[in-house]
Formats: sequence, structure tokens, C-alpha cells
Amino acid sequence: MAKDTVTVIDNRTGKEIELPIHTATQGPDVVDIGSFFRESGYFTYDPGFLSTASCHSTLTYLDGQQGMLMYRGYPIEQLAERSTFLEVASLMLYGNLPDREELADFRKIIVHHSMLNEALKGFFRGFYHDAHPMAIMVGVVGSLSAFYHDSSDITNPEHREIAAHRMIAKMPTIAAASYKHSIGEPQVYPDNRLSYTGNLLKMMFSVPCEEYEVDPVAEKALDLIFILHADHEQNASTSTVRLAGSSGANPFACIASGIAALWGPAHGGANEAVLNMLIEIGDVQNVPKYLERAKDRNDPFRLMGFGHRVYKNYDPRARIIRKMCHEVLARLGDNNDPLFELALKLEEIALKDDYFIQRKLYPNVDFYSGLIYRALGIPSNMFTVMFAIARTVGWVSQWMEMIGEKNQRIGRPRQLYVGPVKRDYIPINQR
Ligand code: SDX
Repeated sequence: MAKDTVTVIDNRTGKEIELPIHTATQGPDVVDIGSFFRESGYFTYDPGFLSTASCHSTLTYLDGQQGMLMYRGYPIEQLAERSTFLEVASLMLYGNLPDREELADFRKIIVHHSMLNEALKGFFRGFYHDAHPMAIMVGVVGSLSAFYHDSSDITNPEHREIAAHRMIAKMPTIAAASYKHSIGEPQVYPDNRLSYTGNLLKMMFSVPCEEYEVDPVAEKALDLIFILHADHEQNASTSTVRLAGSSGANPFACIASGIAALWGPAHGGANEAVLNMLIEIGDVQNVPKYLERAKDRNDPFRLMGFGHRVYKNYDPRARIIRKMCHEVLARLGDNNDPLFELALKLEEIALKDDYFIQRKLYPNVDFYSGLIYRALGIPSNMFTVMFAIARTVGWVSQWMEMIGEKNQRIGRPRQLYVGPVKRDYIPINQR
């Protein structure tokens, strides 16, 4: 029996099937089951992909037990401490930290793609004023392929690269325009003199009739939060982008599918759901009642911002954001924000509760991020939009990695069929 294999014995027939093991540079190795159906006649079955790797990647590594996250091998704690979001974007796209000149060139490219085609203004106006900004973002991003016929050949690496640059550059402009539409204010054009997050803040909060000064505390806080949200291995929205991309769909449609998947409250929509939950809980004396509801299988209420499919330890991003929450709220003068105090108490009580301890449920990245967005004056219906801006770096990087592979194939899972066996049609007069 070859060493790097796993042998599966079919106890129904006694047949032995050897499957090759592929070795990881870090984390679990994998058993390649590509030939399993052909050799055994069985599909493997893993709804929710608890034990299934869908691809190989060089981008992001998570260790759920250790609570570890690395982008291209660099620990998130070091990037959070010393990098910037655009530098992380360059790292994710190109594989290494850029030198000073490379970073300056990258920033110039991104900055010069920040405007939207003027015709898109009519698109925003087509939405009712109370449309959720995520609904607007999904629609607008999906429509971008209608404007960029010059970079629609995904087999052309240059076209792929310009599409990636356009996506990263335009997401803040689309996000801000979605917000402005929802409050009935005019869209603000990008200001290419500003940083990536400074530009976003100005496009969201400036008005034509007044001067606007970017708050450096808010600018830095957003940049750090975007670093933490840039990528996260094969999460639901990234897997959606990869699956959409595997059919050869254009990159804008793929990113729109990622935005749609991110919106769910079990995923990126959790940051908005956390804030709504804290407002509903209202006071620390109500925490026990809500914890009981969270533990009741018959109650759909979950403790939003808690738990994670991979992290069975503290989400390293939550640890960084929690620390930053103190600093940002203090600097912005909200350090006695009752909701922050409530969040701290809720975390403290939950982490001592057997139900959460046994299931290894810890705060995740979404538990505190909304409190910072709120302190920056960002409304809760824009929280997941913020997440989407940052995660676009991961989505386009993962799409570039997948689409650039030589033997890239369409993703097409199978199923365990448990429906009716073959039966004949019955004419309606005999039913
Ligand atoms: C993100 O995948 C990623 O990497 C995502 C993300 C990224 O950066 O892309 O990290 C971003 O999506 C973070 C997660 C944000 N979502 C939430 O905060 C929503 C609340 N969390 C849960 O919905 C849940 O924890 C999930 C969806 C995050 C994880 O779901 P799993 O892995 O399928 O876990 P599970 O539902 O099987 O839970 C295991 C047990 C169950 O109890 P039992 O059936 O064993 O009795 O833990 C319980 C669950 O009921 N449980 C919770 C809970 N989370 C899990 N119970 C109460 N409150 C919770 N939050």
C-alpha cells in the first residue's frame, strides 16, 4: 500500500479503494476523492462542507483551534498593526508585500478607477429611497459588466487584472452612492487626493454646501477594520464567487453573487444583526433571558456575533476589533456607549455559560465591528456594505487564483437523492 494514501474498505462488497493524500504547507492534509465515485459507485456526502476542501489556495490560512489567521503567510495581528488596506490588497493580489514604488503605483491605479460611469446615476435613482443599500449594491455591481466590454475576456490576464482593480476601486463609490440615495442626498464624486477610507468617508458624509474634513481616527479605524475583513479562506460568499466564476461568468457578476451570499445574517449580515440584537436586549438584566432563548433549540433566536464554523477559539479579528473598540469609542467621545458596555457584559456572561463553552462558541468578527461603525456615524443598514467593500479584495483575489488555474473546471456538486422512485404520469381525470 503506497504511503501517502488512505484505504477505504466497502464493507458491503469488501472492495478496497486507495485514495491519494495531498500534503498542505500548513494545516490539515487532504484525501483526494476525485476518483471515488468512479471506483466505488458512491458519492461522498458533506452538506455544509464541514470536512470538505473545495480547492487548493495560497491566499489565506485559518487555524480554528489556535484562532490563527494569515494572509499570504503574514499573521493578521502583524498586518493589523503595521499595514494598510491597500497594501493588503496588493499583497493578496500579487502574493508579496509591495515595495514603496509598487505600492505607490498600485494606489495610483486604484485611485484612477474610483469613478463610476455617469449613466449609473440613473440606476441608483431607479431604486426606491428605502431600498436596503445591499440590494442596491448587488444590482449595481452586477450591472458593471454592461459598461466594461474592454475587459470582458477572462482568458486574458490583463483583462482579469483591470477588472479586479475596477472592483476594488469602485466598491467605496458604489457603497457611498447607495447610502446617499437612501438619505436623499446628492452623490459625491471621489476625491483622489484622499486615502481609500478617507475617500469613502468623504463620499458618504460630505455635502456640497459645506467643507468636509476627514476624521483621522475614523479613517484609521475603517482601514484597520477593512484589513481584518479582506479575506477569510473558503467562506460562504467566497465559495459562491468561486462557483460562479467556475462557469466562466464575468467577474462583476461573480462579485455580485458574493455580495448576495454575504448579506445573510448567518454570514456578513451578522454585524447589522448584532446591533439590532443589542438594541433589543436593551439592558444587561435582560441578558439571561436572551441567553436562554439562544440555547433553546425550538427558538430561532441565535446570539448574533457568536460562533463560527472554523474558529473554535476566539476569532483573532474579534480580539483586535474589541481592543480597538475601546480606543475608537474613547477617542470619539462615546466611551460610555451603553451598547458597548452591554456587549462586554453579554460576552462575559456567555463565555462562562456551559452551553457556549461546550460548543466552543466565541465572539466572531461581527460581534464588535458594528459598534465601531455606529460610533463612526455609519447606519446599521450599511454595516454589511462595509464588509462587502473590504471582502471584495478577497473575492477578486480568490477569483483570480481560480480562473488562472490551468485545469480549472466548472464546479458541479452531486447529491443524495431521496425523492420518489420512477413512476408513470397519471391523466388528470384519473387522479
Ligand atoms: C462570518 O465562514 C467564515 O469564515 C465567515 C466569516 C468571514 O469572515 O467570511 O468569518 C464571517 O460569517 C462570521 C459569522 C457571523 N454569523 C453570526 O454571528 C451568526 C450567529 N452564528 C451562528 O449562526 C453560527 O455560529 C454560524 C453560522 C456562524 C456557524 O454555524 P455552524 O458552524 O453551522 O454551527 P452550528 O449551527 O452547527 O452550531 C453548532 C451548535 C448548534 O447547537 P447544537 O445543535 O449542537 O445543540 O452551536 C449552536 C447551534 O445551535 N450555535 C449557537 C450559535 N452558533 C452556533 N447557538 C446560539 N447562538 C449562536 N450564535
